[in-house]
Amino acid sequence: MRNRSIVPDPTTLARQAADSVVDTIRQTLLVQDRCSVVLSGGSTPQALYRLLTTEAYRTQIDWQRCWIFWGDERFVPADHPDSLYGMARATLLDHVPIPADQIVPFQTVACSPAESAMHYQQQLLGFGGGVPPRFDLVLLGMGPDGHTASLFPGHPEPTHPGEALALAVENAPKPPPIRLSLSYRAFNQARTLLVLVAGADKQAMLQQVWSEPANPALRPIQGIAPESGQVIWLVDQAAAGQVSHG
Ligand code: 6PG
Repeated sequence: MRNRSIVPDPTTLARQAADSVVDTIRQTLLVQDRCSVVLSGGSTPQALYRLLTTEAYRTQIDWQRCWIFWGDERFVPADHPDSLYGMARATLLDHVPIPADQIVPFQTVACSPAESAMHYQQQLLGFGGGVPPRFDLVLLGMGPDGHTASLFPGHPEPTHPGEALALAVENAPKPPPIRLSLSYRAFNQARTLLVLVAGADKQAMLQQVWSEPANPALRPIQGIAPESGQVIWLVDQAAAGQVSHG
């Protein structure tokens, strides 16, 4: 698959993303016992999540060997309408046979955001056997301001990337303002990152991201540069505009 795919519409984008998810998980499980998948929030992946629960897709994945993490989370309880964990459960996880202890959400109650980030880092290190795990598949979106996960323009991590694997985020311009996010260090260990971008409001930013030199402080998604993995862009025509495949 080429690294930049432009598809006609969001429906095709969801279908192609689902094919890619199935393919990546199957390929991974041919050579490993387990497959780690990092979910994203936003509205774009919801159609993908729903599609993965349909029989044609659900039955192609060995869910018993999948581990689920989140690239970011909003600091609200799981039953809050803004919860990304809640969204993923409602659209995907409640409908596929994944063992509950293989679903690893950020903690958003009975702790501070900083404590939650630290706890998530410990969980990631535990999963990685004491070192940062190499995620097999990471799903990401992009906002019109170039943010990805909860890494926002001008914020500390995009400006001065740190060593932490997970971080607390304050003053996010996209509500709610308090969030949690994986760091570049965590994302950039991944083997495959699938970036889903849909909608005309992303067009101007996408053009910059694809043509301008990397400046993560200004366009945080440009900090996604895996050490030895691949980034696959799946973009609908509205977001791509006149830009062509790279
Ligand atoms: C969120 C995500 C955010 C999202 C992008 C793209 O809080 O929703 O953390 O990073 O993935 O903003 O969102 P859309 O898919 O809705 O455009």
